[in-house]
Amino acid sequence: MRLMQSLRLGDLELGNRVVMAPMTRNRAHADGVASDEMVAYYAQRASAGLIVAEGTWPSVIGQAYCRQPGIATPEQVAAWRRVTDAVHANGGLIVLQLMHAGRIGSRHVKPPGIETVAPSAIRAAGEVFTDAAGLQPFDEPRALSTAEVQAVVREHAAAADNARAAGFDGVELHGTSGYLPMQFLCSGTNHRSDDYGGSTPKRARFMVACLAAMADAIGSARVGLRLNPGNTYNDTQDDDPAASHAELMRQAAGLGLAYLHVMRAPTPAIDAFALAREHFGGRLILNDGFDAASAEQALADGAGDAVSFARHYIGNPDLVRRFREGLPLARFDRKTLYTPGPRGYSDYPPA
Ligand SMILES: Cc1cc2nc3c(=O)[nH]c(=O)nc-3n(C[C@H](O)[C@H](O)[C@H](O)COP(=O)(O)O)c2cc1C
Repeated sequence: MRLMQSLRLGDLELGNRVVMAPMTRNRAHADGVASDEMVAYYAQRASAGLIVAEGTWPSVIGQAYCRQPGIATPEQVAAWRRVTDAVHANGGLIVLQLMHAGRIGSRHVKPPGIETVAPSAIRAAGEVFTDAAGLQPFDEPRALSTAEVQAVVREHAAAADNARAAGFDGVELHGTSGYLPMQFLCSGTNHRSDDYGGSTPKRARFMVACLAAMADAIGSARVGLRLNPGNTYNDTQDDDPAASHAELMRQAAGLGLAYLHVMRAPTPAIDAFALAREHFGGRLILNDGFDAASAEQALADGAGDAVSFARHYIGNPDLVRRFREGLPLARFDRKTLYTPGPRGYSDYPPA
């Protein structure tokens, strides 16, 4: 099986091409510190060629969800160290996804006094579940000043440093799903007229600046990027998502990143994998809706270098073995996706 072949992504030496995609599961403590369940959950999935751990905030102003982990405080670094040690002890590799949520925020989620910021003061339509007050509309965000944008870029470098201190093998920037980097990229959420908006190259600049800062901190061969051209999640709109993403990919191509993790575009008008091959040129991890057979086919077709799986990893900690031996896949329970505790999280058994 092509999926079982080893692969080099920058400095990362994967034993196979089955990647565990990042999944927010809200199992951290209220202060963003990783829990014992998280140690068990990730250790159980260490046979993946690479684990991309869930979207994690680089600073508390970027927190989107209750019980979402951070990588900003010494306590958070120490707790993540237990996760990475357990994964490494089981022979795995693990990178951390950095996720600054920008305008996807609520004061009912963040500690008192922590505001919600964005490229422009445009509130996202929609609601977020909060432990404190149930469903709440997203906050009206405040537009970041140019100096503040540069400070957020530096926070990404600090978070990358913290991730390495916590034992992660690298970091992945979350550039999809309508969070801060995508808010800068897309014309519907970025109405700025400074160096970070006003034209497609300038809208791409924030994401590229974050990647460059992360690469300066820990080396570009340990930095990845995740994109999903045309994604409209979290009220995201762009006049021309293919053009915006092509520009971003071209700018990112010069950085020497470990990989681009690309999700299929939700619209058939955009072939996200072809776009990435044309404009990025480096290693590609493909995602969205794959099973073992379609992943094999995609690798055989040369569409990318590895394939990531999210939902199959929820109920199948030993997904690599199930693929290799053709074993049936377990289903998962939607009701426990985001609930606290080990149930429906770290209690799915191997085959
Ligand atoms: C419960 C859940 C949480 C997710 N959280 C994240 C996340 O934190 N970061 C991210 O980039 N994608 C996230 N995703 C998207 C997945 O990584 C993946 O792109 C999507 O589920 C499609 O892949 P699949 O068909 O293999 O499930 C999440 C998906 C699910 C189901």
